[in-house]
Amino acid sequence: MNSTPEEIRQRYEELSFPTLATPRVALMAGYVQHGQTTTLEHVAAVAYLSLALVRWLGLHCDERALVRGALLHDYYLYDWHDHNAAPDNWHGFTHPCHALRNAEKDFPDLTDLERDIIAHHMFPLVPSPPRHKEALVVSLVDKICSTVEVFARQPWHKAENGGTAW
Ligand SMILES: [Fe+2]
Ligand SMILES: [Fe+2]
Repeated sequence: MNSTPEEIRQRYEELSFPTLATPRVALMAGYVQHGQTTTLEHVAAVAYLSLALVRWLGLHCDERALVRGALLHDYYLYDWHDHNAAPDNWHGFTHPCHALRNAEKDFPDLTDLERDIIAHHMFPLVPSPPRHKEALVVSLVDKICSTVEVFARQPWHKAENGGTAW
């Protein structure tokens, strides 16, 4: 399904609102993900661009799960730069498990597809591949966004109102 940028933005706002309104999700605004980008800005960018990509490609998928899974893919809720705050020294490998545990606690209706998106977004670093196309899309878009965040200063500079970057 092809869409105009305005249609994609409206759909993103509609799908992201319930998750962004969940109290602990706002905590991600307090952690740095890469460079000057907070974790909340990062997950909002990944969620929006994942939705935009499936629309541009005309890929039929579960957009609700795509957006919620993407918003929760880094829901680990600690500063990974602070070795005292991180639960272990293997953040790159273990943070999907921490994110999944928090998501299951705060979202009891989490679906298998959303679990797949969260648990397998670090493939191939974590050698357990995504099982659904939505999880593959988020894993790919996450890598692109992370690379941009490392090299660009505040790439999602339009971010306002708590992390909604678009
Ligand atoms: Fe991650
Ligand atoms: Fe990420």
